[in-house]
Amino acid sequence: MQKTVQLYEGKAKKVFATENPDYVIVSYKDDATALDGLKKGTIGGKGVINNRMSNFLMQLLEKEGVPTHYVEELSDRETVVRKVTILPLEVIIRNISAGHFAQRYGVEEGIVFDSPTIEFSYKNDDLHDPLLNAYHAIALRLATREEIELVKSLAFRVNDILKAYFKGIGVTLVDFKLEFGKTSDGRIVLADEISPDTCRFWDAKTGEKLDKDRFRRDMGGVEDAYNEMKRRVLGEQ
Ligand code: TMP
Repeated sequence: MQKTVQLYEGKAKKVFATENPDYVIVSYKDDATALDGLKKGTIGGKGVINNRMSNFLMQLLEKEGVPTHYVEELSDRETVVRKVTILPLEVIIRNISAGHFAQRYGVEEGIVFDSPTIEFSYKNDDLHDPLLNAYHAIALRLATREEIELVKSLAFRVNDILKAYFKGIGVTLVDFKLEFGKTSDGRIVLADEISPDTCRFWDAKTGEKLDKDRFRRDMGGVEDAYNEMKRRVLGEQ
């Protein structure tokens, strides 16, 4: 499948049209931003790692019955996915306190929850992605009640599958962000990516951070952490 025109360029990916109106090609960049776009940089090799890891995990989820946008990996950085209209909601699942949860509620990082939490934020850069609840999302017509219910149950299923998978490779899945989209025939599917940019991964033994927090917090060892996650997920260097 061939790229035709570029449809969109985001912070971490470009999206291209193809000859097939139902398919687009995403191309993953090494660019990284954090802190609402204030911090900018590059993480060498990130595009390749995120593309390949995300494709692996999307296929794992498909096998477990979660519908995703994934179609076919074209190359190290490029993948064919179903064209969707992204619901303007970031869906965040947390198993352990960290990041904005710890900041917002004034608790330390590392508290293991009895059951996972879910939250939504409104994908809107001008408003800095404000937190909202299901009633707000419905009032703003970002999604219907039925779509929200479906997204919630899919997100918790994704958590169950990924938590178990990562446990098997010695990684604790702390939290992550998902995005869902609607296909031309009205189906809701998991879209965007699942990668160290969008998840918090802690080494199960040492607690070492193996994700984008190393970049957000200027901890160093960013590329090493991404490569370590690639090695564990794909079982290669
Ligand atoms: P948070 O603690 O900053 O709210 O992040 C929760 C999870 O969501 C974490 O795994 C990182 C991910 N995330 C994104 O993928 N994109 C974002 O813009 C933000 C703020 C978080």
